[in-house]
Amino acid sequence: MDLELKGKKALVTGGTRGIGGAIAERLAREGADVAICSRTPAAVEAMTAALEAHGGKVYGEAVNATDGPALREFAANAIGALGGVDIVVHNVSGWGGLDEAAWRQTFEVDVLGAVRLVEATIESLKASGSGSVIFIASTAAVDAFRGPRSYNALKAALIAHANSLSQEYAKDGVRFNCVSPGPIFHKDGPWDNVKKNDPAMYESVRARVPMGRMGAPEEVANAVAFLASPAAAYITGTNVIVDGGFTSRVQF
Ligand SMILES: NC(=O)c1ccc[n+]([C@@H]2O[C@H](COP(=O)([O-])OP(=O)(O)OC[C@H]3O[C@@H](n4cnc5c(N)ncnc54)[C@H](OP(=O)(O)O)[C@@H]3O)[C@@H](O)[C@H]2O)c1
Repeated sequence: MDLELKGKKALVTGGTRGIGGAIAERLAREGADVAICSRTPAAVEAMTAALEAHGGKVYGEAVNATDGPALREFAANAIGALGGVDIVVHNVSGWGGLDEAAWRQTFEVDVLGAVRLVEATIESLKASGSGSVIFIASTAAVDAFRGPRSYNALKAALIAHANSLSQEYAKDGVRFNCVSPGPIFHKDGPWDNVKKNDPAMYESVRARVPMGRMGAPEEVANAVAFLASPAAAYITGTNVIVDGGFTSRVQF
C-alpha cells in the first residue's frame, strides 16, 4: 500500500530513539521530509545523519520540551527549514509519578507540550490541506496500570484534547488522532530498564500480554504512518491502541 507520504513534511518530538526514532525513520523511509528534536545534541546529530540517508530534507534541533518558548521556536524553525508542515507527532513524554513535581512535569511536557505544538503549527497545517496531528498517548490512559500516577491521567487528558481539536479543525482539513502503545520494548528504553532493575515486574507485564511479548517501536510507527497519511483521510478524533491485546476491555 502506497501511503502517499512522499514529499510530506513531518515534525516529530523526541525523535532520536525508541518510538519517536522509529516514527521518524518510518516517515523518512516513506519519502517524507522530517524534523526531530531531543535534549541530547549528539543524539540529534546522529539521528539527523541517519534520516538524511533516506534522501529527504531533515532538520534536527536540541530542545528540552519542558521549555515552552524553545519548543515553539523549534516548531517555527522546523517549518522554516522544511518549507511547511503536514504532519505533527507529539511523542515526547515527561513520564510521571505520584508527587506534585511529577504531576507538573507530566503536565508541562505531555499536555502543555501538545497545546504549544498545535498553536505553533496550526496555520501551516491548515495551509497543508491534509494536516495530520498524532499525539502518542498510552494504554495506561484507558486501563488501570501501576497506581494513581500523573502519567495515566494526563495521557487521558491528551486523548480528550485530541478529540476536542479534531472537532474544531475538521473544517480546516486538519485531523487529530492518538496512538496508544501498550508495553513497547527497545534497548535502553523504559521496559529495558524495568527488565534490568525489576525483572519480576517486567515478566508479570509481559505475561499479561495475550500475544506473549512486548511490542516493537516499529509496530507503533506503522500505525502512526498510516494515521499521518492520506490513506487515513476520513479518520479523525480516534485513539488507536497498539498493544498485542494488553488492554482487554471492549474497544467501543
Ligand atoms: N515504551 C513504552 O512501553 C510506551 C508505552 C506507552 C506509551 N509510550 C509513549 O511513547 C512515547 C515514547 O516512548 P519511548 O519509550 O520511545 O521513550 P524514550 O525511550 O524515553 O524516548 C524518548 C525520546 O524523547 C526524547 N526526550 C525525552 N525527554 C525529552 C524532553 N524533555 N525534551 C525533548 N526530548 C525529550 C528522548 O531523547 P533525550 O533523552 O535525548 O532527550 C528520546 O528521543 C512517550 O510519549 C511514551 O509515554 C511508551
